[in-house]
Amino acid sequence: MPEYHVTTAKIGEVLLPSNQGRACEERMPGPCAFVIFGASGDLARRKLIPALYRLGRNGMLSGNFFIIGASRSESDDASFRSMMEEAVKKYSTFDNAAWEAFSRRLFYRKLDDYGDNASLARIRDLLSEKEKEFGTEGNKIFYLATPPSAYERTIEGLTASGLSEETRGWSRVVIEKPYGRDLESALALNAFVLRNFREDQVYRIDHYLGKETVQNIMMFRFANAIFEPVWNRRYVDHVQITVAESNGVEKRAGYYEQAGILRDMFQNHILQLLALIAMEPPSVYESRLVGDERVKVLRALRHIQFDGVDGSLAMGQYVSGSVDGKVVPGYREEEGIPSGSNVPTFAAMKVFLDNWRWQGVPFYLRSGKRFPSRFSQITIQFKQVPHLMFRQTLGPEIAPNALIFKIQPDERVQLKFHTKNPGPRVCLRDVMLDFSYAQGYEGVMLEAYERVLLDCMLGDKMLFVSSEGMELSWSFITPILDLVEGRGVPGARAPDSYLYRAGTNGPVEADRFIMNDGRVWRNYG
Ligand code: NDP
Ligand code: BG6
Repeated sequence: MPEYHVTTAKIGEVLLPSNQGRACEERMPGPCAFVIFGASGDLARRKLIPALYRLGRNGMLSGNFFIIGASRSESDDASFRSMMEEAVKKYSTFDNAAWEAFSRRLFYRKLDDYGDNASLARIRDLLSEKEKEFGTEGNKIFYLATPPSAYERTIEGLTASGLSEETRGWSRVVIEKPYGRDLESALALNAFVLRNFREDQVYRIDHYLGKETVQNIMMFRFANAIFEPVWNRRYVDHVQITVAESNGVEKRAGYYEQAGILRDMFQNHILQLLALIAMEPPSVYESRLVGDERVKVLRALRHIQFDGVDGSLAMGQYVSGSVDGKVVPGYREEEGIPSGSNVPTFAAMKVFLDNWRWQGVPFYLRSGKRFPSRFSQITIQFKQVPHLMFRQTLGPEIAPNALIFKIQPDERVQLKFHTKNPGPRVCLRDVMLDFSYAQGYEGVMLEAYERVLLDCMLGDKMLFVSSEGMELSWSFITPILDLVEGRGVPGARAPDSYLYRAGTNGPVEADRFIMNDGRVWRNYG
């Protein structure tokens, strides 16, 4: 006999989820402990603790939760709490009662070194004491917020000390970027990580995937029927992705000298944006399936041909100039940067995807420091109308439609199209359909780190990078790095590299390859 369940809904009654008919999934993490290695550093202060605090303040942390900060700096619970209080005041809005409740869950232990047995034993003891007190059921997250040089010792220490053992509950490790510095080192690091943790325990962060408007790309594409039919080579002329920053290298000279723009922004953030814009719809909105579709895009990336490098790659480095009316130093004059450094702070690239949907459609990618303003935008530039029936009255061309995803700082989706100008004359005008992302929403907006930390607690890996995704993006970037850094194949010519004034949109020469294709870089203000 089938079993009949009693429901409160009458036949024919429309069941709307709560929240006025907007389809929302409720997500509340379960109990867990959160251990931050490198807790004295910039990332912990500026991003991690403020993000965890805001999650707590917004009721998005389990009541069974606590944090242990660990690093070599001299500190104790009290001084760590007061350092973090300053950080939260600086990088977040501050609420005294919320802070009081949060800070009671904050502890600190000094390490002699990251892999040091005795130090990790002290963490283990504290962890088991607090696990009992806070009822975290043995679930724990280890966040590696140290420079990469400390990753392996920390991971080894976690295994050797038994800290990461899953005797009770689960154990996860979060690894920051940079994940390696080229394909070979990334593979070696990954092999090491996977000797100590299973893939399902490893959370490789790309905080761009946690940005609200970046996640919205998927919703926008796959929850609306009207865009998908034109999302392909038949209708799209080209795609532009720009991540522009007005900042320079700030206090991260040591790191940036080792990284440069290609490792810092292209290998991760920009290729992930490309993957989201170009991916196929997965059959179900489920972490592994979405991840697989992103990976397929990276697999379809055509590697830049060395002989064609001039037409598809340009590099740049900023010299002193003015941003926001303030004179700023050039890259080589920044604190900690050698005066002869050739590390690029700007790159522009033209890439193609070898698949059915995108064959022949150029994707222009651009990122740089010290632009006049901070803006991240993706533009889908559609083709011209197939027949210009207004030719006699309006001339030979009308600007094609464009769909613009404004990712930051102004979060919007805009559609540029034409209408008739009011009045007796026959003329067109460009207008924008403009949707502000926060419009009509009064709930909590999660900042990128809040979102990825929350997902890690929930065990949802959709917004993290898989082993395969990481490997494919390094496979694409590494030959370019070899070329730029002088390890290219014999006979290959390094791409041209130009200086650009701070406060401009990169070197004018970088406009060349897009202009040679009859196009221009867009910034929809
Ligand atoms: P920091 O340079 O501030 O280092 C964090 C902490 O690690 C330091 O406070 C220090 O603590 C410890 N540490 C520093 N150098 C070493 C070393 N050579 N060996 C061992 N431990 C060291 O880094 P961030 O906080 O800026 O970044 C942490 C990680 O996050 C890095 O991998 C970085 O690339 C990544 N990241 C950072 C971002 C940011 O905005 N800061 C953004 C994106 C990624 P102690 O000496 O007390 O042990
Ligand atoms: C980081 C880079 O990953 O992203 C920084 O290391 C960059 O150089 C930053 O400034 C940009 O992130 P956001 O979220 O400010 O756009």
